Amino acid sequence: MYPVDLQGKYAMVFGVANHKSIAWAIAQALHQAGARLAITYQDERLKERVVKLTEGWDDVLLLECDVTKDDDIAAAFQAVKGHAGGLSVVVHSVAFALREELGGDFSKTSRDGFRMALDISAYSLIPIARYAAPLMEPEGGSIVALTFIASERVFPGYNVMGTAKAALENEVKQLAAELGHKGIRVNALSSGPLDTLAARGIHGFLDMKRGYAERAPLGRNNTHEEVAKAALFLCSDLASGVTGVVLPVDAGYHIMAV
Ligand SMILES: NC(=O)c1ccc[n+]([C@@H]2O[C@H](COP(=O)([O-])OP(=O)(O)OC[C@H]3O[C@@H](n4cnc5c(N)ncnc54)[C@H](O)[C@@H]3O)[C@@H](O)[C@H]2O)c1
Repeated sequence: MYPVDLQGKYAMVFGVANHKSIAWAIAQALHQAGARLAITYQDERLKERVVKLTEGWDDVLLLECDVTKDDDIAAAFQAVKGHAGGLSVVVHSVAFALREELGGDFSKTSRDGFRMALDISAYSLIPIARYAAPLMEPEGGSIVALTFIASERVFPGYNVMGTAKAALENEVKQLAAELGHKGIRVNALSSGPLDTLAARGIHGFLDMKRGYAERAPLGRNNTHEEVAKAALFLCSDLASGVTGVVLPVDAGYHIMAV
């Protein structure tokens, strides 16, 4: 049990694909902290896994939501409104780029590949925040997105995903500025490499992960659970004064020059 009490809070988590998803680690932490939950999955193909993962959970709402579809996003929030009336927490843990865009020369990024990566991985936070905000009033709430340091530095293999993360982090700041007066905080967690479905699409991912552990001040990789704990912090009253921040959860890797 985590020492954070989210009883009486309702949380919506976007992006559970399987048991390795960062979204799943966060959903479990929110659940253990007492929050009621809605979990979204991308499409029918993933439904069975998410149903299995949440077996035995009372009162969880499972919703299909392809974030490229405005109607899906609207329907998911409508369902949450019907189920809970309001909302305290949203976790955006969604990203995608075509495999052929994750590697090779960045200058060869295609228009369609760029559009798709930015649409799914960055734009989607905007309508999600737009629909979440009225449900978070008047108490306020917390929106958390997942990012990676490729937003700032060049990581071979990340290519257009670095561009998408740069856009996402900028959105976090703009949304934090816009929604702050409503008591809605918007932050991002920048995790080090974790072995997930999305990460497997990155060429040389496992070597990069090893390099991280060698260089990081803590001498290891961060874990899923550590990202989930930081998410709990951002979603709870402990972080009531924190907004517009990109918080690294990367065993300290981000401070190292070499
Ligand atoms: N794994 C890492 O090393 C790492 C590091 C830092 C940040 N992140 C970020 O964490 C987040 C979660 O990724 P993950 O590593 O847990 O991998 P994951 O594959 O488990 O999660 C990615 C999710 O995005 C969803 N998704 C893709 N296209 C979608 C669409 N059109 N509509 C709705 N959902 C869609 C997938 O279904 C999946 O659930 C991503 O934003 C990722 O960039 C991952």
